[in-house]
Amino acid sequence: MDKIVIQGGKPLHGQVDISGAKNAALPVMAATLLSAGRSRITGLPQVRDVDTMARLVEELGVKVIAFQDGEAVLDAATVNNHVAPYHLVSTMRASCLTLGPLLCRLGRARVSLPGGCAIGARPIDQHIKGLVAMGADIKIENGYIIGQASKLKGAHIYFDMVTVTGTMNIMMAAVLAEGETILENVAKEPEVAFLADTLNQSGARIKGAGTDTIVVQGVAAIDPIKCHIFPDRIETATYMIAAAITQGDIEIRNCVPAHVESISLKLIESGAEVEEGETSIKVRGRHPVLPVSVKTQTYPGFPTDVQAQLMALMCISGGKSVIVENIFENRFMHASELNRMGADIQVEGRTAIVAGVNKLSGAPVMATDLRASASLVLAGLVADGETTISRVYHIDRGYQNMEEKLSKLGASIRRVK
Ligand code: EPZ
Repeated sequence: MDKIVIQGGKPLHGQVDISGAKNAALPVMAATLLSAGRSRITGLPQVRDVDTMARLVEELGVKVIAFQDGEAVLDAATVNNHVAPYHLVSTMRASCLTLGPLLCRLGRARVSLPGGCAIGARPIDQHIKGLVAMGADIKIENGYIIGQASKLKGAHIYFDMVTVTGTMNIMMAAVLAEGETILENVAKEPEVAFLADTLNQSGARIKGAGTDTIVVQGVAAIDPIKCHIFPDRIETATYMIAAAITQGDIEIRNCVPAHVESISLKLIESGAEVEEGETSIKVRGRHPVLPVSVKTQTYPGFPTDVQAQLMALMCISGGKSVIVENIFENRFMHASELNRMGADIQVEGRTAIVAGVNKLSGAPVMATDLRASASLVLAGLVADGETTISRVYHIDRGYQNMEEKLSKLGASIRRVK
């Protein structure tokens, strides 16, 4: 298994280009199943999860005409297999996004239950509740969700909690359902609006994406998907914090400043300088780092996917920070690894108290999930000495060329086999 080795203590300077948003790419790739034609997606991030989704839709009968350099041409004319197998779903939970499209396209689906992951149980009961409300017959057998639906019908669905992929799954199912579907208490993440806009350009009739309520008028069919994936806001946030934690000065290009407003404001509160452009953000880290507290929320609140990265920054602040993780029940695994680097973090349930320390020291640490890995990289960039991070396959799932991008900014970072 690969490891990443970092010699800390080097301020990062220069420019970095943000890649496409993983969590916008995965749903639109699943959405190609909705149309019996040749879809074309550009601007895809070259990350492991996108490769997995390409393999999954191919398994379902999609012809992968092209898949390189961020472009995918996917021909879904011959979708003929309704089974999303365990060996793929277990490596990527977003595979459950094929559930709604398969029920529309084939009238049946057999999708392995994603199972839990490091950050929590992550059930998909809301996805199932929505599909049942639309007339699907769903049962769980041998670890699989087995769905049947001759024709999904529009329904009025209220989500018990805000769920990003739940909103996306039901919204996609509603596109080809009969009649009107009203979705209440939906996710407002930019990736939801991106999916809705992309589907509308193919003939779907979705209104309200980005607000609390989405209304979909079902149509008989839609044209193939054509879209260019927008920049990844979580990758953007990660490099913003890299500038702050190393007292560096980075210009982050090809990003959407509006998508990372909550992070910009938190970094300013912590003493960093943040300068927003049209499609770029300049971040300058300054000493001392001031302690800030945060509660993770659904969009547009502070994102749970940036909680671990902010915690790394707070480890070297001049005081005490309180970080509350409201979205997932077990998303503090990075805390014990950061403590091994000399941090002083106390976790009590969904609250982490971070007491800033003068310095972190490099150590061998282990990545546990995608964003926790990013947090350990950030800590390694500022720690004295050498940090070795194992299980870096987590990083490869969601960050394109992280070592190259950081090396170009002046980091001493390398991957060892
Ligand atoms: C999406 O996951 C993202 N993944 C996650 O990013 C992100 O952390 C999460 O949204 C929250 O923003 C993708 O978009 C592929 P949820 P998702 O359904 O949709 C509970 C990353 O790092 N819940 O919004 O799976 C759930 O357990 C990943 O890129 C139910 O109880 O998250 C969680 O506590 C990590 N029942 C909360 O809701 C359900 O049916 C939010 O989950 C669905 C969700």
